[in-house]
Amino acid sequence: MCGIIAAVSSEEEVAPILMEGLKREEYRGYDSAGVAVLNGKGTITVRKDVGRVKQLEERYDIARLHGKVGIAHTRWATHGGVSQKNAHPQMSCHGEVAIVHNGIIENYLELKKELRAAGHAFASETDTEVIPHLIEEEYETERDPVKATLSAVKRLNGQYAFVALFKDRPDVLVGARFDAPLVVGMGERTKFLASDVLAFLAHTDRAIFLDNKELVELSPRGVRIFTIRGREVAAKSRKETQLAWELGSLTKANYAHYTLKEIHEQPTTIQSALAQDPAKVRAIAERLKGARSVVLTAAGSSYHAALLMRSRLATEAKMRCETILSGEFERELPFIGEDTAVVALSQSGETADVLEAVKMARKSKAGSVVSIVNAAGSSLARQSDQVLLLNCGPEVGVAATKSFTAQVMVGNLIIDEITGRDTMGDHKKLGALVERSLETEPLMKRLAKIYRDRPDFYFIARGGNYPVAQEGALKLKELSYIHAEGMPASELKHGTLALIEKGTPVVVIAPDGPGYDDIISNAQELAARGAEIIGVAQRPHPVFKHTVKIPASNGSIAPVLEVVPLQLLAYSMATERKNDPDYPRNLAKSVTVK
Ligand code: AGP
Ligand code: GLU
Repeated sequence: MCGIIAAVSSEEEVAPILMEGLKREEYRGYDSAGVAVLNGKGTITVRKDVGRVKQLEERYDIARLHGKVGIAHTRWATHGGVSQKNAHPQMSCHGEVAIVHNGIIENYLELKKELRAAGHAFASETDTEVIPHLIEEEYETERDPVKATLSAVKRLNGQYAFVALFKDRPDVLVGARFDAPLVVGMGERTKFLASDVLAFLAHTDRAIFLDNKELVELSPRGVRIFTIRGREVAAKSRKETQLAWELGSLTKANYAHYTLKEIHEQPTTIQSALAQDPAKVRAIAERLKGARSVVLTAAGSSYHAALLMRSRLATEAKMRCETILSGEFERELPFIGEDTAVVALSQSGETADVLEAVKMARKSKAGSVVSIVNAAGSSLARQSDQVLLLNCGPEVGVAATKSFTAQVMVGNLIIDEITGRDTMGDHKKLGALVERSLETEPLMKRLAKIYRDRPDFYFIARGGNYPVAQEGALKLKELSYIHAEGMPASELKHGTLALIEKGTPVVVIAPDGPGYDDIISNAQELAARGAEIIGVAQRPHPVFKHTVKIPASNGSIAPVLEVVPLQLLAYSMATERKNDPDYPRNLAKSVTVK
């Protein structure tokens, strides 16, 4: 997963630039951080340690490192514990090459054995370390950074991206992109390579998105891109992209955390999500209608958005539609063929499971792949036949909030186009409804105080709202570290009821409508066994110990209005329990490993 940022400049000192970029990528992993800078005298200085970027910066006074070329990394450990020696950059044994790496080298054990036999001494437990050793082997004879990197890449199996710094080349960085993201930033004086455009957006809004299985040589003068066969890709075939995201959206503004800011942005972002080109929406609706079956695939919160979409496609559009977790896609492959339309949902567009699912769908000759994605130049967007962007701006908090509600809105737009019904009404009025859901914040803070030490939470809903219960539980788990389960209310009595005891908090999503009486009965059953019911509803009910009042609305925006208080509950619980809501333990925002 991890964040990579590398820079080479004609004039600027890169250490402060690298630190700033790394902080913007910290959401991708934060087990350890490190930097390597090459100065004009041919010395590579490496500083790395466990902990966050800020700690590294302060502990080692990084701003004082001199050099106009360098690489930096924030790690999400996959191979080897969280320790200083396993932090990146990783060096070759003669100190000629330094590497920062994102992803996994699957055949590292075999390569390590071979390299050890050839006399290489290893200093870490990482899979990464084989890369600098392999490159150095070649580099010592060839002295050509691209050729040496190419020959190393030919030996590597896995999904990865990395950037190499060469001790005797202050003017060059080499990057490789193999099933993990790596983007070029084209500043005037400084050029960048990063896992995410956010890392260099403060310096340039011009980017070049590499294709998969490409190498890049970066110098202050420009870039050269190579295929895995070593053929140079013609410069004119790779245009620069002007990035649209504004830097303002990368600050916390007046909020204590990105997560809170992003929750509060939703009155606006649900509307920007609806600002789609009607012709594109129509074309996607036609594709789905023309398919014999639709398969929705995603992971995590995006999967919950897919579940909501499936429910409407099945009940309102009467379409044969399935939802498959991307990580489980392979098992369902026999059902995918030319008459299947695959829709992939993802905030990052870089989730390895989702990309793999799309790859498998293509192999099974799926009729089309449509994606609903936030990151415009992402791998998923580039691999899809048709794309709708979420337009909700960068999401920095590890917990998906505004991207989830944006996905629900884009799904609604497509389904309304298919059914010919307008279920959202005047788009301009939707923001005000979300504002009203946000007014539950003080209550959610109080609830967090009351329930902060409870070991378990349950979230129940009926029918189409069930994915909202799952999303509420996921938010609470990842931000508060409290065990939580989201489930259909009807399932309770088939087992889970046994877990309810005096004082167990149960969030009951009970909007007005056809399922209301049934879910109230379920709430009664729970209360009779001691549960404390937190009702998310339009009005109080005697069975509710607390009423989280949400505005009345028609069906298709309801999940958004219901989920906002649950996001606030999870956030408040995290701060109440002194967790960092932006960077929950063990997680990374973009899960680029399978
Ligand atoms: C959500 O809060 C999680 N952090 C996670 O489940 C996330 O939704 C999942 O990893 C999918 O990411 P994507 O939308 O970028 O593909
Ligand atoms: N596999 C490498 C490691 O464990 C890279 C992990 C990452 O992407 O941060 O160090």
